Amino acid sequence: MIITNKTMNLDIAQFTKTIRDADEFARLHVSAHRVLHIRDVAIESRRLAIRYGYDPRKAYLAGYLHDCTKGFGMEENRKYIDKYGIEVTEEELSLGNNLVHSKVGAFFAKEHFGVDDPEIFDAIYYHTVGRPGMTLLEKILYTADYIEPGRDMNSAVPLKKLRSLAYEDLDRAVYEITFSIVEYLKTLKDTYICPESLKTFEYYDKLLNRK
Ligand SMILES: [Fe+2]
Ligand SMILES: [Fe+2]
Repeated sequence: MIITNKTMNLDIAQFTKTIRDADEFARLHVSAHRVLHIRDVAIESRRLAIRYGYDPRKAYLAGYLHDCTKGFGMEENRKYIDKYGIEVTEEELSLGNNLVHSKVGAFFAKEHFGVDDPEIFDAIYYHTVGRPGMTLLEKILYTADYIEPGRDMNSAVPLKKLRSLAYEDLDRAVYEITFSIVEYLKTLKDTYICPESLKTFEYYDKLLNRK
């Protein structure tokens, strides 16, 4: 497999510094459990990147930064939403930081950690709900977020199946994750299902099941 040219452009000194900064920031701003999750998503993303011929360092960096604003409160979120002019709906805001952290995190990673890479930006921005036609890095991060080894076996997604499927067929793994999440949310009464999640599910359902 060919690794994209952008692989070679990631300066190793800058990469190392950003990882160190991201780890330090996480230890100060999120729970110990979340720190482990962040590290595990980075490692899982790197493994998937190697499997699918993507730049492992970029994937590792995206994993390390994906939940950088997960510890933000709503006041802080609103400050950054205004500052960056991020489009969010009231429904998204009503779920606290569950969805908003991905959008805010993408902008924050760019400004605070100086990660000026559009592929990493998009991977962080879409990591909670995905989108139709995700890039390879978006699929890697979206999947790694669910299958990393620290995830509870009581997860809404079938982890045992997904952990091997992710290394066999990434599109199918993305589909299975979106399917499981949408089905799980449907079982909850009066729960808001983000339209973007449904669009992601419908796209991958059509792509894989309705040829
Ligand atoms: Fe997240
Ligand atoms: Fe995460």
